[in-house]
Amino acid sequence: MILTEYLKCPICSSPFVLSGDEKSLVCGRGHNFDLARQGYVNLCGGSMGKLYEQKELFQARRNVYEAGFFRGVEEAAGALLKELFPGNGAVVVEAGCGEGSFLSRMERDNPGNRYIGLDISKNAVRMAARGNPRISWLVADICKIPIKDGCIDCIIDMLTPANYTEFNRILKPGAYIMKIIPGDSYLRELRRNLGLGRYENKGVDSFFSGQFELLDRRQITYVFDCEPSISEDIYVMTPMSEKREEESLRKRVDSVTMDLTLMVGKVRK
Ligand SMILES: C[S@@+](CC[C@H](N)C(=O)[O-])C[C@H]1O[C@@H](n2cnc3c(N)ncnc32)[C@H](O)[C@@H]1O
Ligand SMILES: [Zn+2]
Repeated sequence: MILTEYLKCPICSSPFVLSGDEKSLVCGRGHNFDLARQGYVNLCGGSMGKLYEQKELFQARRNVYEAGFFRGVEEAAGALLKELFPGNGAVVVEAGCGEGSFLSRMERDNPGNRYIGLDISKNAVRMAARGNPRISWLVADICKIPIKDGCIDCIIDMLTPANYTEFNRILKPGAYIMKIIPGDSYLRELRRNLGLGRYENKGVDSFFSGQFELLDRRQITYVFDCEPSISEDIYVMTPMSEKREEESLRKRVDSVTMDLTLMVGKVRK
C-alpha cells in the first residue's frame, strides 16, 4: 500500500499520481517509478553500495527483534505514539527503517495512524514490505526524502543517521520527532569482547536539542538474557567496526545490555 498523496518525484519534485494500470507512480513531468511486486517503491534510483545491501545483516536484525531484545524500546515508543496522537490519524515516518520490525510494531500497536517506512537499502525494504503490507515502504535516501513539505506528524529516527534539514522540511509546524540513540552501555558485553570502548553520544544529544524543542528524554536500560545464537545475531546486525568480521572475537554470551536513550522533540514554530 503506497500513500501516493504524500510523495513527490525525487527527480523534479512534482506530485505523483498512480498510473492507469496501478503498476507505477508517475509525476507531472512523466518520470515513472514501478511499484515492486512485494509492495514497495524504489524512489532512490541506485544503491548505496554493499554496506547497506547485506541481507545477512538484516536477517540477523529480524531474528534479534523476534527474540525480544528490543521489546522494551518498542513498548516505550508505542506508548508514546499513543500519548502524542490519542485521536489517531497521524502520518508517521520512520527514517532508516531497516527490515521494518520496529515500524511494524508501531503500526500493530497504533493501527489508526498511517505509516511510511524508508531506507536506502533495497534488500531491507523488500523484507519490510513482505512483513507488513499496511505500511508504505520506500527505498529512499534521508538526504533527499521524496515526501512533500510540511505534511508529516511524526518522524522516528532509531539508531540511524539523521538529516535535520530534510526532517524539518517534511514535518508539519509543531510536529514531533522521536530519536533513539545508543547509551554508553549499549551492547557492553559484545563491545568488550571486540575490544571496543563504550558508545559516545554527547554530540548527537546536544545537536538534537539544538534543532528541536526537547519534550522528553528517557533512558531504556535492561539486561537481556539470550540464547547464544541470538548474541551471534547481535554481533552480525550492528556495524561495530570492521572487527565484526573477526569471528574469533565474537564470543557468544548469554546476556546482553540494552541501553538506549529516547528523545522526543517538537518542531519549533
Ligand atoms: C542500524 S540500522 C537501524 C534500522 C531500524 N531503524 C532499527 O532500529 O531496527 C540503520 C539503517 O539506516 C539505513 N540508512 C543509512 N543511511 C541511510 C540514508 N542515507 N538514507 C536512508 N537510510 C539509511 C541503513 O540502510 C540501515 O537500515
Ligand atoms: Zn518527476
